[in-house]
Amino acid sequence: MQKGVGMKTLLDSLKNYKKECVLSPLFKMLEAMMDLLVPVLVAGIIDRGIGLNDTSYLYSQIWMMVLLAALGLGFSVIAQYYAARASVGAASELRQSLFDHIQQLSIGTLDRFGSGTLITRMTSDINMIQNGLNLTLRLLLRSPFIVFGSMIMAFTINVKCALVFAASIPILLAAVFFIMLVCIPLYKKVQSQLDRIMTLTRQNLTGVRVIRAFSREKDSVSEFDRENQKLTKMNEFVGRVSALLNPITYVLINIAAIYLIKIGAVQVNLGEMSQGDAVALYSYMAQMIIELVKLANLIISINRAAACADRVSSVLKEEPGMSYPVQSEQPEEKNSVDFNHVSFAYPDAREDSLTDISFHARPHTAVGIIGGTGSGKSTLINLIPRFYDALSGTVSVDGVNVREYGRKELIEKIGLVPQKTELFAGTILDNLKWGSESLSEEDAWKALKTAQAETFVREKESGLYSIVEPGGRNLSGGQRQRLAIARALVRHPEILILDDSFSALDFATDASLRKSLRESELNTTVFMVSQRTSTIMHADQILVLDDGRLAGIGTHEELMKTCEVYQEIRWSQVPEERPLDGIHMEAAV
Ligand SMILES: Nc1ncnc2c1ncn2[C@@H]1O[C@H](COP(=O)(O)OP(=O)(O)OP(=O)(O)O)[C@@H](O)[C@H]1O
Ligand SMILES: [Mg+2]
Repeated sequence: MQKGVGMKTLLDSLKNYKKECVLSPLFKMLEAMMDLLVPVLVAGIIDRGIGLNDTSYLYSQIWMMVLLAALGLGFSVIAQYYAARASVGAASELRQSLFDHIQQLSIGTLDRFGSGTLITRMTSDINMIQNGLNLTLRLLLRSPFIVFGSMIMAFTINVKCALVFAASIPILLAAVFFIMLVCIPLYKKVQSQLDRIMTLTRQNLTGVRVIRAFSREKDSVSEFDRENQKLTKMNEFVGRVSALLNPITYVLINIAAIYLIKIGAVQVNLGEMSQGDAVALYSYMAQMIIELVKLANLIISINRAAACADRVSSVLKEEPGMSYPVQSEQPEEKNSVDFNHVSFAYPDAREDSLTDISFHARPHTAVGIIGGTGSGKSTLINLIPRFYDALSGTVSVDGVNVREYGRKELIEKIGLVPQKTELFAGTILDNLKWGSESLSEEDAWKALKTAQAETFVREKESGLYSIVEPGGRNLSGGQRQRLAIARALVRHPEILILDDSFSALDFATDASLRKSLRESELNTTVFMVSQRTSTIMHADQILVLDDGRLAGIGTHEELMKTCEVYQEIRWSQVPEERPLDGIHMEAAV
């Protein structure tokens, strides 16, 4: 069944190349016909041209052969051209639809696949499909045509000898089939090992600084070596098995050829067959050998391509994961966010990352979120733009359940500065335009100013047009964070989410950024995740998370009185505030 889906995906991408898919095999067949005629001409040359010394016939046949060769070449070039067009075109459409589809998938689904395998599927797998397609278009009709054509031509020359052909073909097909059965499952294994190598390479390249800092180069190299060896071994094994095909075909065919010559020689001796015909029969046998070997290789690459097509289509088969209503509800209250008994666990995770979270964020207020690492802060804010769906309970924005919004409506309300800052290759202005397509330079500067990024951008020679390398690697961590904040501000979001966006900023910048956010005319509700109490202590409401649960909720002053977890965090950061034991007890009660 899987295979069917793989083929369907492939056929879909071939839709625009119907003409090429017909013309290429057609011209290949014409070329094959030219090939099939040659041995007959040779027989004539031997029997009549040379045997009877008919020079004019000899030359005419030679010219005929030259003509056939030229025609064959022409047809073959045309066939190659169409095959290349169709296979390259279809592969690029397939790649595009795979990429488009990946963009639609939910973050949970992407987590499950992992980027390594998605990259191999987009690159290596699709290349295999392209090669398989190209070979198929050229050979799928031609090879059987020549094999059976040779046999039929042999029958027209001499029935007794032709029986040798008829007997050898099924034996050969059986050998090909057997090898195929062994190889197909192996190809899938090879591709998934390739996935592992891709994941490893990615991890090594992105983590290169850490690897150096911990002098783990040797371990990285040996780990890579191990996986790479595994891949090599697999490839060698598949290679060996499939390489058996050629010797097996050659041995079988040559046995048949010996037998053919033996029978032929007797018949020529008895005068039942001419010498020319014997040579022609042998040529047909030779053509058949070559075509059968090609056919066997073709079958192998078709199988390989089918295995890859399965892998590609298993991604395409993934449902986008989240459904969106056709018509969304009208918001009741602007800029508010509500969590109502929300619990969430990541796919395949054993424990809940969030348990029974409830709170109401009033419009235009600042909400601070604090808690130890892994306490669920990022998870909580990822539920607001619906990167994931809550397992139970409801998340509402503007009084409407986030599931009731159309695909874009919700996202457009939210400006998100993720914990791991991602910038993209382009200019600074390009990056800011992610927030709003129609951004003017003036607004860009305004956002940069609020985000405390104005100074360093001004200092750059090309200002807004300075180049940002992929991932923002030519900027410092703090500069990246500030640009990411500006990018979120550009959108004038109703809800601004800053996930630990102050971590790379020094205290002074942190303070002035918060001040300018407060003073800007943005009418936003701000969610501020931080590990530092000083960053969030002025928020209207602070959520204290502990191991996925809400350990406390209130203002800084309230929490200092009631929430032990918050007190501990605060005192660990500002030890001077830790009271003497007696007072501590009082506060805790
Ligand atoms: N993509 C994921 N898949 C599975 N589990 C995850 C994923 N992301 C986070 N978790 C788990 O969920 C829990 C909460 O993680 P979360 O990222 O929300 O913590 P956090 O409070 O933001 O921590 P930090 O302060 O370090 O950013 C952790 O135990 C973590 O192991
Ligand atoms: Mg986090």
